[in-house]
Amino acid sequence: MRKLLVLGVTGATITLLAFYGRSTAGEETGFKVDPREYRSWNHVKSMVIFGKDHPLYNPFWGIHHVYVNDRGLATIKKTGKRRFPDGTVLAVVFYDHRPADGNTAYVEGLKRIEAFMVKDSKRYKETDGWGYYAYDGKGRSLVKDMVRDCHSCHSQVRDRDFVFSVWTR
Ligand code: HEC
Repeated sequence: MRKLLVLGVTGATITLLAFYGRSTAGEETGFKVDPREYRSWNHVKSMVIFGKDHPLYNPFWGIHHVYVNDRGLATIKKTGKRRFPDGTVLAVVFYDHRPADGNTAYVEGLKRIEAFMVKDSKRYKETDGWGYYAYDGKGRSLVKDMVRDCHSCHSQVRDRDFVFSVWTR
């Protein structure tokens, strides 16, 4: 069964269209936001990981951009302790870094990974309210166990509500 989740956000526009997949047995099979949606959210920050010694190099090398929907915008701008409201979604998208302009610059190449954090404190009790989902460039799921694969590392920033990114000023 597929369920369409529509989160209306107050203000002029913005409806988030995202899919929660459910197998017939009821267990979760996925959550994904289309790039046409998250690319029009709020850009939080970008980063280029190119050094093999960087702790995130494998598998997160390349150029990445982080986005937040309107629901989490005010909270991500906070510098200290913060707590995101239910309905917050964060997206991070990773691209190959492709040489451009005769090897004097890098631009985004092939999309490698799309990862999402979705806040729902009732649904994701075991991971402190966050659902974690990630897909490779072909759309195959990369998450087998949210705690082991994602939440354990994000727990380093428990005081920032498990979200590493801070708003670029
Ligand atoms: C080894 C540690 C580590 C693991 C494992 C990890 N992440 Fe992250 N994640 C990070 C770091 C560090 C950032 C911040 C990157 C930056 O500053 O640009 C991040 C950023 C993110 C963001 C953007 C919001 C934020 O926290 O900044 C999302 C969404 C995300 N990760 C999802 C996932 C998912 C889904 C998984 C599991 C497949 C996962 N992460 C596994 C370290 C990790």
